[in-house]
Amino acid sequence: MGVDLFAKAGLHQAEAVLRAHGVDAFFRAAAERTGDSHVVIDGRKVLMAGSHDYLGLSTHPRVVEAAVQAVRRWGTTVSGSRPLSGSLVLHAELEERLAAFLGQEAATLTNSGFQANLALSALIGRDDLVFADARNHASLVDAARLGWGRVRRYRDLGQLRAQLAAAPAGTGRLILTDGVFSMDGDAADLHGLRALADEHGGTLVVDAAHDLGVLGERGRGLVEHCGLDDRVDLISVTLSKSLASIGGALAGPAANVNYLRANARPILYSVAVPPASAAAALAALEVVEAEPERRRRLWELAEGLHNGLRGLGFDTRPSTTPIVPVRFADMAAAGAFWAALFEAGVFTNLVGPPAAGTAMLRLTLTANHDETHLATVLEACDRAARRLGVPRVPDIPEVALTR
Ligand SMILES: Cc1ncc(COP(=O)(O)O)c(C=O)c1O
Repeated sequence: MGVDLFAKAGLHQAEAVLRAHGVDAFFRAAAERTGDSHVVIDGRKVLMAGSHDYLGLSTHPRVVEAAVQAVRRWGTTVSGSRPLSGSLVLHAELEERLAAFLGQEAATLTNSGFQANLALSALIGRDDLVFADARNHASLVDAARLGWGRVRRYRDLGQLRAQLAAAPAGTGRLILTDGVFSMDGDAADLHGLRALADEHGGTLVVDAAHDLGVLGERGRGLVEHCGLDDRVDLISVTLSKSLASIGGALAGPAANVNYLRANARPILYSVAVPPASAAAALAALEVVEAEPERRRRLWELAEGLHNGLRGLGFDTRPSTTPIVPVRFADMAAAGAFWAALFEAGVFTNLVGPPAAGTAMLRLTLTANHDETHLATVLEACDRAARRLGVPRVPDIPEVALTR
């Protein structure tokens, strides 16, 4: 007899337990969005404090208009993959602009950031080794699993160094890391990773999902912040956060990008980015460059949120970016806090294992928010903590942002 394939643990079980405690945190559908600052859920208008539309561009008039015009001109989808019937001049233009923006020779699009990372599996042959940060996003974890080679997970550079030193001669060594870790909000040590990659003949790929548009003088991301624009082998990009769209890309030296274009199955066998999404990302790229004040605003609010929460006794370490994590003892405690904030009119992200190491709420304020929104979030957190008797941490130092 077989066993029930659907009986495995998953989000549905956590969800059931939380629901029994009156916490309904997942798949909550918004009936309306006002930019990314508020949403209407079940008739209640709540402040959105969990969006990754970092620069608030998903409702920017230029971005919206570009998407509308693209639908009128090219329709809703291309219904084909890039190598066959799905390529538009719009895709080629976006690839060129992305590459130029990132200071790379070339870029190739995928239909999501997740797929951009899965495309990396085309690099991993039977004799190759993958070295993956233990806190990488699920899509990088799956990319490593999809490849044919063996995977080593490292927790710090010391462990990575030892793993690389033990790798048999003649093996390919692919090092995969988030640029900014999506749950904890801290940045990878790119200089350290580059040095190890150089020492051991490794290929370094950085996922810029949470740093593109956010970090660096011109918003090129962590590679720009670290002055390593020309020293990574590939940058993986999502269009879904700062670029206010949906889609992904891999950028780097032309030879590396061309290899992926010819071999990566998410590029070869899945539909191209829809016209509206490509046009929205192109317009968003222009706004990222034209309106640097949005990035400044994002960071001001991030600083206010970190230090406001820390002042109230909520530890937001190790984050140094606009991703602001607040940890709890378990999912029940985090869920109760989530529900209290929702009740107070603030929507946050409730996450726990396996996505995050521990139960936490993840908060982000975007360039579309203002000081009043910040004050609302802080007050709601303070009140919820008083009501629920959440323990506070004394004397947390102010945040040292990766800016
Ligand atoms: C680090 C990281 N990489 C990749 C992705 C996937 O991007 P997308 O939502 O465009 O598929 C995410 C999404 O949350 C992410 O946080």
